[in-house]
Amino acid sequence: MVKVFFSKKIRPGGQKGTSITTSKRVSVPEGTTLMEAARKLDLKEVPAMCGGNCACGTCHVYIDEFYLDKVPPIRACSPEIDLLQEKESFDNKRSRLSCQIKLTKELNGLLVHLLDDELL
Ligand code: FES
Repeated sequence: MVKVFFSKKIRPGGQKGTSITTSKRVSVPEGTTLMEAARKLDLKEVPAMCGGNCACGTCHVYIDEFYLDKVPPIRACSPEIDLLQEKESFDNKRSRLSCQIKLTKELNGLLVHLLDDELL
């Protein structure tokens, strides 16, 4: 099993004021994608509209900086980078499509930061 943490900053009382970070944890079998792990938690921030076919970009997450060198890079033949670069929230270092990351034991303990729900 691979353990993954999804964290999100929230601002109690609206957009102003101090933010706090919350996180949810899930354990999934090796080979599960990061998007499927998010779905197991029913995270609305990862609607994954195309069901993991690398076509919608709605499974966009930020990989925590500590894990950047552990996550396999974007494949050259994949449309992933094009989908990511269309997003206003694109971060050249941390942005990934969660449906394109298979969880292996090397990624056990992976920390992922959620974006706001991009459809709302
Ligand atoms: Fe659509 Fe990942 S679920 S691109």
